[in-house]
Amino acid sequence: MALWAVRSAQAQDVPPGVLQFLRRHEEEEAQHLKQFEQLLGTSSHGKTALPRMPSQWRVLVVHLYGYETLGLEFARLLVGLRPDLASIMEDEAVHVGFFEHEVRTILVHGGPAADGARQAAQAWRRRLPRTVDRYLHDESLAPFRDELRGHILDVIDARFLAVGLLAWSEGQGATPVRTAIGESGMSSVFESNG
Ligand SMILES: [Fe+2]
Repeated sequence: MALWAVRSAQAQDVPPGVLQFLRRHEEEEAQHLKQFEQLLGTSSHGKTALPRMPSQWRVLVVHLYGYETLGLEFARLLVGLRPDLASIMEDEAVHVGFFEHEVRTILVHGGPAADGARQAAQAWRRRLPRTVDRYLHDESLAPFRDELRGHILDVIDARFLAVGLLAWSEGQGATPVRTAIGESGMSSVFESNG
């Protein structure tokens, strides 16, 4: 779901073990993109310039975690329509789990790195509504856009809150999200990792 971000991230200074994961991750994202293109009968824009990714790991990992979470939600919507593509959702759940573990590792150590990760999460979250709007711009989505947008933002708030990247007061609509998703909903995401 985040092929270009993942490709770009490999050029950054990342902790040992992460680079290997990113390489495998890139292959999976490329495969997903191919499946989407076949499904939609389109081809990607032949993008050559990679997006600029943050060089600090504490910031980069928050971006990757956020985009993967977004990717997982879109995959979940896709699988609702095409159950045969469930493997995409399973891959995305693994990617989210990997970066969530990395985020937790930073937060558990505390100090400036943890503060930096939380600041990065707040900044990323502030830009998120525009990102989601861009993904949902297609006219065919117009009747569902508001609902989808609200749902996606709620899911990401719930994850960022649960992992400790955002405080309760920073999430938007945080309380109802927790009620709606609940602990069992969150754990079912991880159980699907296999
Ligand atoms: Fe992914």
